[in-house]
Amino acid sequence: MTTFTITVNGKDTFPCRAEQKIIEAGQQAGFSFPTACRNGNCLRCEGGLTSGHVLQKNHTIHAGDAGSTQVLYCVAYPLSDCEISVTDVTAPGELPVHTLNCQIVRIESLNHDVSRAWLQLPAGKRIHWHAGQYLMLNLHGECYPFSIANACQGRQIELHIRHGDDNSAAQDIMASLNSDSTVSVTLPAGIRFIDQAPDQPVWFICGSTGFAPVKAMIERLVALDFQQPVRLFWGARTTQDLYLPDLPGQWTEELKDFEGTTALSDMQHPDHQQGLVHEAALAALSEPHLPLFFLGGSPPMAWAVFDALVEEGVPANNIHCDVFDYAPRD
Ligand code: FES
Repeated sequence: MTTFTITVNGKDTFPCRAEQKIIEAGQQAGFSFPTACRNGNCLRCEGGLTSGHVLQKNHTIHAGDAGSTQVLYCVAYPLSDCEISVTDVTAPGELPVHTLNCQIVRIESLNHDVSRAWLQLPAGKRIHWHAGQYLMLNLHGECYPFSIANACQGRQIELHIRHGDDNSAAQDIMASLNSDSTVSVTLPAGIRFIDQAPDQPVWFICGSTGFAPVKAMIERLVALDFQQPVRLFWGARTTQDLYLPDLPGQWTEELKDFEGTTALSDMQHPDHQQGLVHEAALAALSEPHLPLFFLGGSPPMAWAVFDALVEEGVPANNIHCDVFDYAPRD
């Protein structure tokens, strides 16, 4: 039995037996293809053949032939390894990206320079994101990334926006959100997230609004009834910079083994550790190889914590943070 490799849009692959329809094999492998009739009539699954040969309704189509830009993959069988190009196809675990207008439902203050914006997705469209992913706010011709601060459970999206005096772009964003009734967003984005329950303890280390994706991931762990230890280390300069102080206590109730630690770098307070947040995490770390780490914060903070963890013996591939993808080190 001959099996060929199908490459989709130049990146993801799946196996397809010679007697198997390409879409059928892709769907078995977890890909989501646009389809409707599944018998070659509606053209919904039409795509290009970049390399290789396929058999479609008893006709052989070679890449480069006139018909190779309009292959119907619901009725096409591979005759060789193939590269295909199809729009709106998603690989296993990948979610479709949407750009749409959200209603701005509510803006509320969380502390002296952080506000929470609640957006509502349009009705009638199923939009999904994984906990820990981010979106782009499309404002005034620019795209601004913001972590989504809640796990996907309905139409509401929660954003935490720090808009201190030192951040004029964030102040402009807040001015728009306060004056407009809708805003354009593109989502989801990011590859550092929690969808299924990890098979090891999870530790979160975050600062400032780096708490937002962490909150979403912890909510997901609660929904998954995660049984392994979860540790949260949340850093700030002073007590004023912390927000949503009741959540760690709530998560202690909801998770089997949750502990939250806050660390203040610029002041002493009996309820908080003093020092940098990753120092508090390292002090608690007895088995460096064990936990899965998620970091949340600015690029300098995230890379500094990454270095400190690796120096302490944590394997680099146990450490995840969006920053590593959108602000890589040279
Ligand atoms: S799904 Fe209708 S032509 Fe392929």
